[in-house]
Amino acid sequence: MKEIEIFSPATIANVSCGFDVLGCCLDSIGDKMVLRKTDEPGVRIGKIIGEKLPMEAEKNVASVAVIEMLKDLKEAPGFGIEIDIYKNIKPGSGVGSSAASAAGAVFAANELLGNPFSSHQLIPYAAEGERAACGAPIADNVAPALLGGFTLVKSDDPIKVIELPSIEGLYATIIHPQIEIKTSVSRDILPQTVKLKSAIKQWANVGALIHALHTNDAHLFADSLNDYIVEPHRSKLIPEFDNVIKNAVEAGALGGGISGSGPSIFTFSKDEQTAHKVSIVVDKVYNKTKIPYHIYTSKINVEGVKIVKRQ
Ligand code: HSE
Repeated sequence: MKEIEIFSPATIANVSCGFDVLGCCLDSIGDKMVLRKTDEPGVRIGKIIGEKLPMEAEKNVASVAVIEMLKDLKEAPGFGIEIDIYKNIKPGSGVGSSAASAAGAVFAANELLGNPFSSHQLIPYAAEGERAACGAPIADNVAPALLGGFTLVKSDDPIKVIELPSIEGLYATIIHPQIEIKTSVSRDILPQTVKLKSAIKQWANVGALIHALHTNDAHLFADSLNDYIVEPHRSKLIPEFDNVIKNAVEAGALGGGISGSGPSIFTFSKDEQTAHKVSIVVDKVYNKTKIPYHIYTSKINVEGVKIVKRQ
């Protein structure tokens, strides 16, 4: 194989109650990436279409992740790797833009190399790409992008990820208000200590949500989608947040929350039809504001990164 084209998906990190540990993978939003072997050794960015991002290999999250991966190969590959990135996921939107670049790059490079690493082994390299983007190797977006479905980051040092099943037929509706909330800002506003009372409610919800996924219990899943620790602070940064969730739930959504560090808001629905109904009411809420926005619906992608073409 000389060249590979992939679809690298957007992801929802946190999933309300699981700050920095839970994540899930989307299907209809994602980047296109093409990676090819080159005669010249090393990793380089060929082109970036759609966004202004670093072209320098040591600064771009995609190449940083691949460079980290190549360091652990027993032997140098004997070829170089060129990465073309076609960005559809806006950086800073809260649906794992940098994670898609990093996860997609290590997945595709691994294919070009003949798959020396398993999907789980690729996660720490992709997380190094996240370090380049936001200063910390957080895996709650790269894990679902690489593994698909829902994932739980059981530990971050060393990174250990558990794959979780999804609720049958589950659909997400996501609204991305076009306002900028830097991940660093939305992390800085969080208190460093939490009240025991809130922590008890939170870990009860994480446990219940995981049980709901394993037992395909949409009702319990809906009842567990609450965040008592992070959302009360971050939601103040997102106009109409409470209204979006309230109207979505009235239209049949199971619940929702802030996607990653925002500003995107996600809601889950039990099927596609409900997800579309939800998108209509969410649209009505935001239409009244002067803020531009995009709305997406997507089923849960249980595969993660997908190969589109190989040659
Ligand atoms: N979990 C991170 C946060 C974002 O909410 O700040 C995604 O890694």
